[in-house]
Amino acid sequence: MEIKTFGVVGAGQMGGGIAQVAAVSGFDVIMSDIKDEFVQRGLNNISKSLDRFVKKGKMTQEEKDAALGRIKGTTELTDMKDADFVVEAATENEGLKLGIFRDLDGICREGVILSSNTSSISITRIAAATKRPAEVIGMHFMNPVPMMVLVEVIRGLETSDETYETVEALAKKLGKTPVPANDFPGFISNRILMPMINEAVYALFEGVGTPESIDAIMKLGMNHPMGPLTLADLIGLDTCLAIMNVLYEGFGDPKYRPCPLLKKYVDAGFLGRKTGRGFYTYES
Ligand code: CAA
Repeated sequence: MEIKTFGVVGAGQMGGGIAQVAAVSGFDVIMSDIKDEFVQRGLNNISKSLDRFVKKGKMTQEEKDAALGRIKGTTELTDMKDADFVVEAATENEGLKLGIFRDLDGICREGVILSSNTSSISITRIAAATKRPAEVIGMHFMNPVPMMVLVEVIRGLETSDETYETVEALAKKLGKTPVPANDFPGFISNRILMPMINEAVYALFEGVGTPESIDAIMKLGMNHPMGPLTLADLIGLDTCLAIMNVLYEGFGDPKYRPCPLLKKYVDAGFLGRKTGRGFYTYES
């Protein structure tokens, strides 16, 4: 099936970023979320991100307007009936994702691939919620999506070779580099990244260093573009905790125990940049 219309479920930082990249690559995009306010905020963030490319001379104002014009925002999941391919980028919650996939399976045409941007949840379990497990796959983008070249592609137990090859080609069309991973908790990216972030939170919790010193050591000493606590604030502390819980429960190994300080911050509503406060505070 030729993919012309790209469906994105979720208009948050990941969904919005994916919609942006798809629209810039020439696809018509349908981007859905549960409230109009979320859709509008997503469109606004896309516009701001595109402005940065225009400012740098990497895109013209006309190209920006054309890309934005290719994105249709909606609060109706049933609008995904017109999509030739769907990527789900809702909150990292298994029950929520299973419900969305059950619904999408009923809404989308036969043969349409349903992919998930999940950062840790089993693709095999998500696929089992549908009647098309061969056409379900993980397509895991990195944050900020317009800047990061990796797409981790995860095959569930029943994902077909054809589905894998379609997604691999699609990722390349979006200007990304697809890399395969198998379906284990956290796949490859978060199996390695999240324990590092969690350990940085433990270092803070135990008073080994301040957020500034922990981040400076990892930036200057390991050449990471951002320190782990700054990165956690960018990803969202709720998402970091959700991923640690998937690793902890999925492997049953205490080495993945989420740091109590991470839990406390999430309980307090300190979710990072998106709420203006995480390990650091943000003005807007
Ligand atoms: N849209 C458009 N442009 C953006 C942007 C966005 N959303 N975010 C950053 N940029 C651009 C800036 O305009 C700037 O452009 P110029 O250099 O041309 O002026 C450039 O990116 C660099 O930005 P900054 O100077 O503000 O900051 P920086 O040098 O630190 O780069 C970064 C920003 C690209 C995000 C870099 O810090 C980085 O790579 N950080 C690590 C990100 C990372 O590890 N992501 C993976 C997270 S894990 C994940 O996503 C998976 C998961 O499941 C949790």
